[in-house]
Order: sequence, then C-alpha cells, then structure tokens
Amino acid sequence: MRFLRTPHVAMTALATVLACGLLSAPAKAEPTVEVLHYWTSGGESKAAGALRQDFEAAGGKWMDAPVAGGGGDAASTVLRSRVLAGDPPNAVQLKGPNIKDWAAQDKLANLDDVAKAEGWEKILPPLILDVVKYKGHFVAVPVNIHRVNWLWINPQVFAKVGVSAPKTWDEFNAVAGKLKAAGIIPLAHGGQPWQDATLFENVVLGLGGPDFYRKALVEQDKKALTGDTMIKVFDQMRKLRGFIDDGFPGREWNRAAALLMNGQAGMQIMGDWAKGELLAAGKVSGKDFVCAQMPGQAGYIVNSDSFVMFKSGNADRSAGQALLAKLILGQKFQETFNLLKGSIPARQDMARDKFDDCAVKSMDDLKSAVAANGLVPSMAHEMAVPGAVRGAFLDVVTSHFNSSMTSQDAVKKLAEAVDLAK
Ligand code: GAL
Repeated sequence: MRFLRTPHVAMTALATVLACGLLSAPAKAEPTVEVLHYWTSGGESKAAGALRQDFEAAGGKWMDAPVAGGGGDAASTVLRSRVLAGDPPNAVQLKGPNIKDWAAQDKLANLDDVAKAEGWEKILPPLILDVVKYKGHFVAVPVNIHRVNWLWINPQVFAKVGVSAPKTWDEFNAVAGKLKAAGIIPLAHGGQPWQDATLFENVVLGLGGPDFYRKALVEQDKKALTGDTMIKVFDQMRKLRGFIDDGFPGREWNRAAALLMNGQAGMQIMGDWAKGELLAAGKVSGKDFVCAQMPGQAGYIVNSDSFVMFKSGNADRSAGQALLAKLILGQKFQETFNLLKGSIPARQDMARDKFDDCAVKSMDDLKSAVAANGLVPSMAHEMAVPGAVRGAFLDVVTSHFNSSMTSQDAVKKLAEAVDLAK
C-alpha cells in the first residue's frame, strides 16, 4: 500500500474504498418489525393503527401481518406454522400462559434493557408483571387491561320496553323475556367457541363468585366442575341460548355489537373491546350505550394483550423490536391506544381525565377487586390455563350451547374433557 504515503492520496483512496463498500462503516440500523396481530375489526384496527403511526413517526418500518378472527385462535395457528417453518414474525400479540410457553422454548427476546431504561418494574401492577416475566426476565410488553365481565346495554331500547339494568341472573332473564316479547333480540351474540366461552365464564363468576371461578376454571377442581353450582351455570347457559337470534352461528363479535348499536338487540355480554367498536362507530357512553356490571356476584375477569418479540438475530429487526417495546409502554401511546381500544392502560401512573365513565369504572373496580381478592384471569381469552385445557372447556361449552345436551351430561363431559387435556 505504498501509494498511501502522501495524506491527500491516502484520503482519496479511503473514500474510493468506502464508496466501493469494501470497508463498511456500521450502517445505522433501520428499525423494522413485522407485526402479527388479530386486530381487524373497526375499533381494533383503529387502535392498531395508532401503534403503527407512532412507530413510523419514530422512524420505524412497520410490516403488518394481521390475521382476521376475533379472539385470536386463527392467529395462534398462523404463528405456530410460521415458527415451525423457521420464519417467525418479529412482534406477536400474545397473552397469558402462552407467553411463558414460548419463553420456555427459548424463542423470545429478553426485554430487560428496555424495561430497565423505561422503569417498567415500577409502573406495572403485580398481575401484569407476573404475565410478562419469565424466570425474572421481561419477555413481553403489555399493551392494556381489558375487562371481560361487562354487560353492554342499548338505553333507547331499554327505555322503549321499560326495563332497567339487571342486577341478578333472575332479573336478567326477566328483562330478556320482556325484550323478546317486544320483538327485540334480547342478547346479541356470535356463535363461535370463544364467544360462547366468554358467556360461560361470565355466568360462572356471576353465579359462583371469584373463589368458585378459580376452583372450577383455573384449578379444574373436579368437585367444582361437577357440582350443583356448575349445573346451575349450564342451566343459565341454556336460558341464554333462548335469548339470541337464529342468525348467530359463526357471527363475528363486532357484527353482534352492530345489532346492539342499531337497536335490533338490547344487550351484549362481551369484553370492553366492544366499547372500542361502539366508539369507532361514533357512539357515546351513557347516550348510545351503557356499560353495566354483569348480573350476580362481583369480581373482575381480566384479559391483557401483550406483544412478544421473537428472536431474529437481525440488527434492523432487533432495533425495531426495542423501539416498539419502548413505545408501547410510553405514556403517550398508553393513552391513545386504550382510548381507542376500549381497554384501560397497563401502566398504573396514567392521568384519568381523558377516559370515559366505563374506563374509570374499570380502573376503580380493578383496584377494589385486587383488594377483595375478586380478580380472576379470563379462561376464554387465554389468561388462565394452557391451550389444551382451554380447548377442552371451549369444546364442551359450545357443544352444550348448540345442542339439547342436559346440564348433568355437560358437567360430566366437562370434567372428562378437562382431565384428558391436562
Ligand atoms: C381478545 C383480545 C382483545 C380483543 C378480542 C376480540 O382475545 O385480547 O384485544 O380484540 O379478543 O378480538
């Protein structure tokens, strides 16, 4: 390299070498993520869009990989096949025990650095920390806290028929009977196993209370699964079957919410993503819809969406994952997203002033449920049990709902199916 003796010549040579890319300066990573999620309904996609906007505004490249199908069962199938094919997406919407499952397979990126820099340990409640950590390390970033036990009411329909929000299941059945007599669909519902299971866990909590819910759905205690209370639960499920319209099979949950919106139906039992749908359609809480406490015993059925980052070994993707994780738990996004989605923030240090009465009630009820040990994880929304056990619950609940199976047969089948799945 004799010719490099004179400085001028040396500099020109270096520039040439650089131009030819022989000696590459470490290129600045371009934060990039492919995001697998199932937020495709009107309200859901508005909320997911807010995340995309924030990410792109922060210089990131977002590759959207939505999988339609509320409740996420279709998305889980796509995820498993992509991981098997060795092509996992970078960021994936995931919940509950599934997060620990993937972490145990050493598939997930460790988020401790972002967590430390952003102080996640201090801003998240114990119920969420437990979900997003594996062996003491952060392996997921929580987006929200959804409440599953809500009764959505159309106040105009209720006023027209002269009924009010039911406090007990007997009152619920009486109100539903009056709505039906008035030619209104009492309960807007979509015939899909996860939606049937959402009804089921609400009846379990309402009739049995939080302790019974834990015994039956979280611990699968045989006596709880086959006892009198569970028989009453299936009796009530049979009544609910009589309060829905014939068009329910396969109907998506947001289509059911549309029946409530346009006054064809009087009530819907669904998590507060239903509120996201109502708000996206320009509806206002207290005027066009009312969020009521579910009948029966008090408690709080919790569901929380998180994102996990699958290991990629690619600088752009890792930079994208770190940026996404930071944004998701930032104050700005926690407010924007949850106002659109119908949930409440996962971080506990947020101002409440922009949140409506339903969100504030959810925040207050969450606090009192924690204090009263009334907080239970959603089984239908993958927060409580491993996938196979959840599958057993969904199979029996939905086959009972769509047949003339007796409650006595249903509890027997449930105990057998759950036993087999464990
Ligand atoms: C839940 C999910 C929510 C909501 C709902 C309907 O499982 O956690 O965010 O979108 O499904 O798709």
